[in-house]
Amino acid sequence: MQEFSGKTAVVTGAASGIGRALVLKFAGAGCRVVAADVDAAGLEETRKLAEAAGAQALAVHCDVTRQDNLDACADAAYDAFGAVHILCNNAGVLSGGTTWELPIEDYQWQIAVNTLGPIHGVRSFVPRMLAQDSEGHIVNTASMAGLTTMPFAGAYHLSKHACLAFTECLYHELKETKLGVSVLCPELINTGIAASERVRPEGYQHRDKDYVVSPAGKLVVDALAEGMKTGGLAPSVMADRVYDAIVADRFYIIAEDAWRDACNQRLEDIRLGRNPTFAPPTSV
Ligand SMILES: NC(=O)c1ccc[n+]([C@@H]2O[C@H](COP(=O)([O-])OP(=O)(O)OC[C@H]3O[C@@H](n4cnc5c(N)ncnc54)[C@H](O)[C@@H]3O)[C@@H](O)[C@H]2O)c1
Repeated sequence: MQEFSGKTAVVTGAASGIGRALVLKFAGAGCRVVAADVDAAGLEETRKLAEAAGAQALAVHCDVTRQDNLDACADAAYDAFGAVHILCNNAGVLSGGTTWELPIEDYQWQIAVNTLGPIHGVRSFVPRMLAQDSEGHIVNTASMAGLTTMPFAGAYHLSKHACLAFTECLYHELKETKLGVSVLCPELINTGIAASERVRPEGYQHRDKDYVVSPAGKLVVDALAEGMKTGGLAPSVMADRVYDAIVADRFYIIAEDAWRDACNQRLEDIRLGRNPTFAPPTSV
């Protein structure tokens, strides 16, 4: 896609961080924007910022763990603007802990948002985008965590590996159509993700009322929060990368430097049949 003016972009997880930056990037490029999220206050702020940037903007309350919410979001987008050209399945959450300690609700929550979220988005929008028969692009937000593995964040890693694999399958399937596909794999970005608990949906609360986050879980979230503050990139950097990838029709939107080295280390372990190397990116 080369031309953005007058096109419609839908972004989930648009109330904060990378999602808000994507909305504002598309707004600045002349798109009409649909911002979707569960955080009503943050969503309203994004809508106002998009309008201030000169865009027609619609805010839709949408819980990506629910297919019916994505269907309703697609209805709202098509009712308001008649077409959708860019879909960014971007909402995401994180919690930590060893694989055996992490409550099953945390697995279910991260899979529901990070993996099923993009699946729901694709199922609700792609049939209509194909029927529309115009140029378009789908961007799913995975993570460098979808290309690497580290201890204490197993649910997040597996949800992002699955998102990446799903998006590669989507790419193959849409290759001969007018719809491009990209996967965004951010490194460390300064956003609200370390405070994901604020948006844990009702159905994913811990059934054990006495549950307290394990030391390993706390370590991961605290390290993430600290790392984002001291070395995190601005969300707008991701929005710029996404925009450029759509223009270039590039699938992998991948971090540079240390994160790419960590990914290459894993691929080399697999290629050589070695046991997994613990290779955290050294820049953070
Ligand atoms: N920040 C990073 O360092 C980083 C790194 C790699 C990948 N990512 C990914 O980037 C994406 C955006 O996250 P972010 O870093 O901007 O964090 P963020 O917390 O600032 O934004 C995430 C947004 O998703 C929304 N959200 C959460 N659950 C939802 C649900 N059930 N339905 C709808 N919306 C929901 C939140 O309300 C929030 O507005 C996520 O997929 C995340 O996994 C972030």
